[in-house]
Amino acid sequence: MGGVAGPDLAATVSNAGGLGHLGGIRRSAEDVRTWIRQTRELTDRPFGINLVPKGPGPDGFEAQLAVVLEEKPKVLSLFWGDFSKVIPRARDAGIVTMVQVGSVEEACKAVGDGADIVIAQGIESGGHVRGTLGLMSFLPALLRVAGSVPVLAAGGIASREGINIVLDLGAAGAWIGTRFVATTESLAHDIYKKRLIDAGTDDTVHNHFYSYGWPIGTPYRVIRPNKKSLLKWVAGGARRVDNNTHAERISLYAGQGVGLIDNILPAAEVVRELS
Ligand SMILES: Cc1cc2nc3c(=O)[nH]c(=O)nc-3n(C[C@H](O)[C@H](O)[C@H](O)COP(=O)(O)O)c2cc1C
Repeated sequence: MGGVAGPDLAATVSNAGGLGHLGGIRRSAEDVRTWIRQTRELTDRPFGINLVPKGPGPDGFEAQLAVVLEEKPKVLSLFWGDFSKVIPRARDAGIVTMVQVGSVEEACKAVGDGADIVIAQGIESGGHVRGTLGLMSFLPALLRVAGSVPVLAAGGIASREGINIVLDLGAAGAWIGTRFVATTESLAHDIYKKRLIDAGTDDTVHNHFYSYGWPIGTPYRVIRPNKKSLLKWVAGGARRVDNNTHAERISLYAGQGVGLIDNILPAAEVVRELS
């Protein structure tokens, strides 16, 4: 999760038995290097970094990717783009690739491009939403075309029961965002974390106005804005470093599982609760 998932969160999740991920989208190439190195100091276990070309643009993405290929974290996860030329380069560097997709067509492309793992992102998901399908329909359809490629399920999963359901459907695991925003280690602003606790299941909306660094009109899911402020047309994941007014007024990313979140916990406890 860009802006929210830094070394503390990623390492804690990995140390607890999950596969922690750094959100690289909004980082400079040198910051990507620093974060990977900091995470290595905090865990001996595998972790990943996520990159999204739409964020930094082609040159920025290439610079981030070059650092990742040098630093060789175990996993590189990718979202929203054509990765046919990226996946072979990562494979040559010994890095496992995961591509998050929003349609069966996109899944077939990712598998054809050689992705090691595919993530089925349902429309229930928080943050930017690639597709239009509910996870219950999408996951079984994707599994049919994935062959031997493991599939993770994403979107609205915030409980052990939710994980059990996607495992029963045939997923190899769950890819979880929003639940980990409400953890001690996440870099999210305290106001954002509190909004996640207060929000119920009916309180998210799927919108497509402006979100930081993304083309206008890109779809995302946020907590329904409750302020009569023009900033409600701006979506993001408010960070600790952002000011209170900003955190109170922008639309905050959250998936439909938000109603199941009623506390801020250390990430290791969240992993234990979910496992
Ligand atoms: C605050 C936040 C930031 C996100 N940022 C990214 C990102 O930078 N890259 C990415 O691939 N997905 C990102 N996502 C989407 C997740 O990969 C995933 O699809 C989503 O969190 C799953 O739904 P859930 O939030 O209901 O668990 C983000 C999600 C959230 C909630």
